[in-house]
Amino acid sequence: MMERYNVSLKVNGELVALNVRAGETLLESLRERLELTGAKEGCGLGACGSCTVLLNGLPTRSCIVMTAELDGAEVQSIEGLADGTDLDPLQERFMEKGAVQCGFCTSGMIMTAKGLLNRNPKADKGDIIRTMSSNLCRCTGYKKIVEAVEAVSSMSEPENK
Ligand code: FES
Ligand code: FES
Repeated sequence: MMERYNVSLKVNGELVALNVRAGETLLESLRERLELTGAKEGCGLGACGSCTVLLNGLPTRSCIVMTAELDGAEVQSIEGLADGTDLDPLQERFMEKGAVQCGFCTSGMIMTAKGLLNRNPKADKGDIIRTMSSNLCRCTGYKKIVEAVEAVSSMSEPENK
């Protein structure tokens, strides 16, 4: 019989208790148990970034993390970004700059950008390109994605006015 594990997680600010299979990925738990389907399964191998969520604040590819190992962890997915009807600035700028085409990569892109800006709110273009290029997008050519993240980064107050 397959082993199962009890795990408590905080997901988008809410405590959830799950009884998961050994080998069940965080992506499966989010999508299949919690009906949070914003994170997408592209490669399932940790290569494309479409499944990225924040795990204890760090951008993490949820398709290669086992939920059974995450007792006590904090997860933020794209569904937890907006504050009620107020979208996160990254979500607004992605739409405004036309950085969304088919949308498959978008939640992973936004969560990756969120992780970058959490740790470096004034990330410059080079930082943004380096970070975002590890996520794959087959539609946009990246330029608009970088512009969208840059627009949010440049909204932060300069250090020396
Ligand atoms: S689906 Fe997780 S990295 Fe591609
Ligand atoms: S918008 Fe289609 S893969 Fe990025």
